[in-house]
Amino acid sequence: MKLRIVIATLLFAALCAAQPNQWFPPEQMMTIGVYYYPEAWPESQWERDVSNIKKFGFEYIHLAEFAWAFMEPEEGRYEFGWLDKSVDLARKYGLKVVLCTPSATQPAWLARNHPDILMVRADGTRLNHGSREQADWSSPVYRRYVEKVVEKMAEHYAGNPTVWGWQLDNELSHYGAGMSYSPAAQQRFRDWLREKYGTVERLNRDWGNSFWSQMYNNIDQVQMPNPQELVAGANPHSMLDLHRWFASEAADYLRFQASVLRRHVKNQWITTNFMMNYDLINPALSEKDLDIMSFTMYPVSGGLFRGQLGFRMGDPAAVSFTHDFLRNLGSGIEGPMELQPGQVNWAPVNPWPQPGVVHAWIMRAFGLGARLVCVYRYRQPLAGDELYHKTMVEPDGVTLAPGGKEFIQSIKDVQLLRTLYKPNVPPPADYNARRTAFLYNFENRWDMENHKQTIRWDSFDHLLKYYRALKTLMAPIDVITEEKDFSKYPYLVAPAYQLIDKELIARLTRYAENGGTLILTCRTGQKDRRGQIWESLWAEPIYDLIGAAIPKYDVLPEGRNGKVSAAGKEYEWGSWADIIEPRPGTEMLASYADQFYKGSAAATSHRLGKGRAVYVGVDSLSGELEADLLRTVYAAGGSKPTRLPLNFMVDWRDGFWVATNFTDNDQTIPAPADAKILTGSRTIPPGGVAIWQ
Ligand code: GAL
Repeated sequence: MKLRIVIATLLFAALCAAQPNQWFPPEQMMTIGVYYYPEAWPESQWERDVSNIKKFGFEYIHLAEFAWAFMEPEEGRYEFGWLDKSVDLARKYGLKVVLCTPSATQPAWLARNHPDILMVRADGTRLNHGSREQADWSSPVYRRYVEKVVEKMAEHYAGNPTVWGWQLDNELSHYGAGMSYSPAAQQRFRDWLREKYGTVERLNRDWGNSFWSQMYNNIDQVQMPNPQELVAGANPHSMLDLHRWFASEAADYLRFQASVLRRHVKNQWITTNFMMNYDLINPALSEKDLDIMSFTMYPVSGGLFRGQLGFRMGDPAAVSFTHDFLRNLGSGIEGPMELQPGQVNWAPVNPWPQPGVVHAWIMRAFGLGARLVCVYRYRQPLAGDELYHKTMVEPDGVTLAPGGKEFIQSIKDVQLLRTLYKPNVPPPADYNARRTAFLYNFENRWDMENHKQTIRWDSFDHLLKYYRALKTLMAPIDVITEEKDFSKYPYLVAPAYQLIDKELIARLTRYAENGGTLILTCRTGQKDRRGQIWESLWAEPIYDLIGAAIPKYDVLPEGRNGKVSAAGKEYEWGSWADIIEPRPGTEMLASYADQFYKGSAAATSHRLGKGRAVYVGVDSLSGELEADLLRTVYAAGGSKPTRLPLNFMVDWRDGFWVATNFTDNDQTIPAPADAKILTGSRTIPPGGVAIWQ
């Protein structure tokens, strides 16, 4: 009997592992689809649209997102006839279907009958029907209604072979409205605290409540810390727990929806579309609940970014970081479920993207290993909230828009690459020798952003300085969480890892002793996981690891910058400077060139067993210091780093090199003379892409 259970368990585990690759066969590499909202268009146009979608080369179509009012027009009356027709058209034209649970937009009847399903903003306002993401995931009433509609969808479509996969909700968040402070959310927060701390004494101790009489007599007295209700800043430990709770509540809500689907769904995958760089929700908490990871990608949305053309191309580092992070979660299958094909409608200004860059974004996703891309959306809305949003086709519903043409170019590229695909091609050795793990934990970000100590500090920007620097060295990067194995990476970068514990320090020490090159940066190790400062010298728990002490740090007011020099070159800093005292034998890589600590170390390198621990204590203004230091460190580590211009990125996947140019100038690709160029050319313009073998 026992043996049978073991065999069944093993078979089930093998099946689970095999399934993602059945849904996304490796030889197809990447598949491209499109969003379509049939409920917004006359039925007489559906077949024309679906057949054109097929003709353009798309392989799947995304339906039913936001369509709750059509699937359950009145409480308990479910209508899938209209959706069946669209799914059937997809089948007729050989397209797969991704269905979406409609929980991001509840119907009016639900909001009117149960106003308490709507979230409450920090200022106490209860939100209203009429937009999206205004429902409160903590509300048991809301969850009951979501469960019913999701279960009905699952019953209806789980056995439909045209339905390929499911997306839960949409960009789960409350966008700019932050978190819900409803009574239901308050209750769930307290339940979470009770589970975490057990007793109020522990909570009082870990939150440091002895100061300012913040002591609670019991956990029932606790409310979600809300800066709008407080004169001075909220207790930092309570804020850290609030962020932890909110992220875990979001993950719980996704888990709840996935489990309702899984009552019926067996051979269809489940994902949700996380928002790129949205820092309140942590995708890593859902890696076991979702079959694949996806995200929404809107690189051009009003930001200036770098250079003259950054505002037309976006920040390639932020985009790549998301790929490198999601690819290292769960099954490893990821991709942008939404990508803008042109101007959007929701940023403060919505410029036209650089011609060619839509193509470059798609092929860059390919280069970073994406297995799917989906264009948001097929038809330009003529009415409703997303007027002005560019789409695949022009407002006439049939003529390809410029971004649509770039999607079609990308579909053709993928078709060509598939003909050249070979399984299991190993990465080129010198590229692989630069493989870098980038350690990432949202909790560090939450804690530092909550208590910055200087408004000039930006946690994600600090992290991206290292990320960008690594991309100029053409290093393949895996953004990993702490549970993952560090040992397979020759380099491990952990920027501003403020919250730490002795176990992690021991693991990092072993990693370096065993031959790894560890790069730590300013603010690392200052606090324990509760967000409390160690009862020791400042950041002392990491002194043995870095072979140095950090007796003090400095921050400078706006308008004042400090100087730091390394290898005869001078750089400026303004946000953070750890002043380092190297122990004998620890090498100094950079030193401060002014202020009262002139001559003190700003960056060091400590040999540890077969490897070393580098500590970069300063956050430079431009990121150039970080790039120069990493280059030296990688060269010393034995890899041969190249130096690409910032934002000219080159990646390798499945035997193909992909170069994308997000700089202001033409760039020449680093391809050997006999390389076979498959798309683009040897010199690519801003917003251009080249792929070669
Ligand atoms: C996304 C959202 C989509 C759509 C799109 C428009 O953030 O997920 O539903 O609104 O923006 O650009």
